Amino acid sequence: MRTEQPKMIYLKDYQAPEYLIDETHLTFELFEDHSLVHAQLVMRRNPERGAGLPPLVLDGQHLELVSLKLDDADLRQGDYQLDDSHLTLQPKAQAFTLDTTVRIHPETNTALEGLYKSGSMFCTQCEAEGFRKITYYLDRPDVMSKFTTTVVAEQHSYPVLLSNGNPIASGPGEDGRHWATWEDPFKKPAYLFALVAGDLWCVEDTFTTLSERTVALRIYVEPENIDKCQHAMTSLKKSMRWDEEVYGREYDLDIFMIVAVNDFNMGAMENKGLNIFNSSAVLARAETATDAAHQRVEAIVAHEYFHNWSGNRVTCRDWFQLSLKEGFTVFRDAGFSADMNSATVKRIQDVAYLRTHQFAEDAGPMAHPVRPDSFIEISNFYTLTVYEKGSEVVGMIHTLLGPEGFRKGSDLYFERHDGQAVTCDDFIKAMEDANGVDLTQFKRWYSQAGTPRLAVGESYDAAAKTYSLTFRQSCPPTPDKMEKLPFVIPVELGLLDSQGAEIPLRLAGEAAANGTSRVISVTEAEQTFTFVDIPEQPLPSLLRGFSAPVKLSFPYNRDQLMFLMQHDSDGFNRWDAGQQLSVQVLQELIAQHQQGASLTLDPRLVSALRSVLSDESLDQAMVAEMLSLPSEAYLTEISEVADVEAIHVAREFARQQLAENLFEGLWLRYEANRDLSKRTPYMAEAEHFARRALQNIALSYLMLTDKPEVLSATLDQFDTADNMTERLTALAVLVNSPFETEKAKALEVFAENFKGNPLVMDQWFSVQAGSPLPGGLARVKALMEHPAFNIKNPNKVRALIGAFAGQNLINFHAADGSGYRFLADLVIQLNGFNPQIASRQLAPLTRWRKYDSARQALMKAELERILASGGLSADVFEVVSKSLA
Ligand code: TRP
Ligand code: ZN
Repeated sequence: MRTEQPKMIYLKDYQAPEYLIDETHLTFELFEDHSLVHAQLVMRRNPERGAGLPPLVLDGQHLELVSLKLDDADLRQGDYQLDDSHLTLQPKAQAFTLDTTVRIHPETNTALEGLYKSGSMFCTQCEAEGFRKITYYLDRPDVMSKFTTTVVAEQHSYPVLLSNGNPIASGPGEDGRHWATWEDPFKKPAYLFALVAGDLWCVEDTFTTLSERTVALRIYVEPENIDKCQHAMTSLKKSMRWDEEVYGREYDLDIFMIVAVNDFNMGAMENKGLNIFNSSAVLARAETATDAAHQRVEAIVAHEYFHNWSGNRVTCRDWFQLSLKEGFTVFRDAGFSADMNSATVKRIQDVAYLRTHQFAEDAGPMAHPVRPDSFIEISNFYTLTVYEKGSEVVGMIHTLLGPEGFRKGSDLYFERHDGQAVTCDDFIKAMEDANGVDLTQFKRWYSQAGTPRLAVGESYDAAAKTYSLTFRQSCPPTPDKMEKLPFVIPVELGLLDSQGAEIPLRLAGEAAANGTSRVISVTEAEQTFTFVDIPEQPLPSLLRGFSAPVKLSFPYNRDQLMFLMQHDSDGFNRWDAGQQLSVQVLQELIAQHQQGASLTLDPRLVSALRSVLSDESLDQAMVAEMLSLPSEAYLTEISEVADVEAIHVAREFARQQLAENLFEGLWLRYEANRDLSKRTPYMAEAEHFARRALQNIALSYLMLTDKPEVLSATLDQFDTADNMTERLTALAVLVNSPFETEKAKALEVFAENFKGNPLVMDQWFSVQAGSPLPGGLARVKALMEHPAFNIKNPNKVRALIGAFAGQNLINFHAADGSGYRFLADLVIQLNGFNPQIASRQLAPLTRWRKYDSARQALMKAELERILASGGLSADVFEVVSKSLA
């Protein structure tokens, strides 16, 4: 809780630390009603900061100082100063040793930052600034130290004692206690520190590295979850191999551990040698986790593992550089997932997510550059912009340099900066130096916020056989009011002739054509590219693979979009043409609804999707993606003013029409795949994911027709499926159906069967929270009283409240403001015990600019109420005050 107005921190104020910490020796004595932390810090003046001995200012929050020694001499009151976030003292020599003992209270730590308890186990979360809640320290990423950690705890309740690095000693203690000491040979910043103590079981395996070292792999979980670790272990081994093959990166310790905890603010954390994971990002088996959950586990295991190089061996100088590790690591995990599954489908899912959620962030009050230049609370900057847009920026470098040039750049980056804390500029410099290129203008992607618009026009000269594309880029204003200079926008494109064949691409001035798909760089506000030898008016396929995170517009008509859906050689653009067609059709329905006209669906959408459905040559996962209409959230994002009801009515009408018109094709696809599911045991691999994706989207359409044979198929799938993917889809379509008896029964049976599995119950909450049927808020409020709900557990909050406010737009945005009032009450409550989660749950209210004036007033009134409620954490204060500014 803050006692004064939180203050803004600026990148331009960065200064290297006054002191360094060469060694950090920690001893934790864990007890049920408190814990003691002894820290011995071997320190010296930072030579970079010159001579002289300024005061030493250590970070520390909520710590009770028990003892303090400087070079073995006890310090007394008057020798040091304490305030609510610092300990200040005067060193007497260039090099010295500081010993502190503090008392802390993990048993009452509900913020889940620092040392805390999740159920009966002790665990830590230190990124970004949690270590200061453990001991007095220079808690900043450019202070890197060698750590040894001893953990002492009661033997019976905490048989497993873990920390970073390698185990070097252990033994029994007094009074039924025992201890273990770990040594991490690699220097690291405090945010990568970790400790775990608990009654845990582990699954063990080994991995042999490229240079033939054997690494022990262990996944630690609570005993009841020991049967849900195999998928994560397989994913880990695949990740280790992939990073060797694709980036030349080997693992560097003798042991790599993952621990699953139930109470965790985020997905997972890359602590050196001891990754700590939200149990939702580790545990997966057919009966309890969906295909999406399996894929998420694989991606997060890879992400955290990849941080060992992009984050740990080379870390961030300061938190403004967060995207240095996060953007790059997301790019790396996306490459991995693309290689393990369908690359096109992975790209489609990532782009749909980026366009819906990151573009909304970029257009809202919290918009910030990939490398922010100021913040109040760094926890608020673990954003879609830093992660997802940051990954797109790295991806554009990859596109511009090509795979080999990019690899040369990453090799140089890792070699040059191993063991250092560096900046985004250092990353770019390595890419430039390895390739002899100048990325000065490109770097604007790091410093300018907002999503660029790219308007494209064409002209064909039949006599000269030339075809010109003119690109106009602009970037809308953002809260920083910064003037935007032109970006470097790589546009991958192709030109299709009237038969759908690709035309060889030769730019004016070039000696010969160079392929049929190529990347051009738009670098000016307005720029024209002229292609020669173009025998007929072509149809352009633009921004293939979504080669830049921009909003591209080209005046396609619906017939042209249908043509691209059929003929584009770029799978991503085939999908995107379908999305653009759907958007046009849906926007027409929205307008009809607003005018009080009766709704009529353009039959071209039906016939386009009919062809997709019957195209046996398409990957089934692609068919499933192409059958998915743009979400209500995406339709909101692309609206000037979002009409909540019209969007919902239009989209539901289109789904209903598609279901009726495509019934036979959908039924065929459903039955064929359902049949395969019945006959073959579940496997977590791409081809199985693909056929279940199509089976399930088909079922969700089919159930809109209320036909009795569909209901019985759904009930059969619900009762007899051997996996959660099929079972949960059946449950979801029942929940959204008018079959009240079957719905109630299914919900009850499901809850009874899975009441002992919190992750499955999260799914049960989400399915209900996301249902657009009337009365959504009342259902959510009732579910908050369910015994499986627990507001202190972030997964439960996300499953119920997050799903309601983020996905159930028609209910959340109820015209009477009840959804807004509910969310504001909840944020005020969460603020009292978990500021990070409170601040994240706030996001939907910050989007008020998108809605009509009545809703805007209601949303702003709730933000005002939160601001006035007092006792706000820096996290919530920053988001609320910026949203109202
Ligand atoms: N570095 C983590 C990642 O891999 C992010 C993270 C995990 C985090 N837990 C956190 C960030 C808690 C802030 C607070 O993405
Ligand atoms: Zn990360």
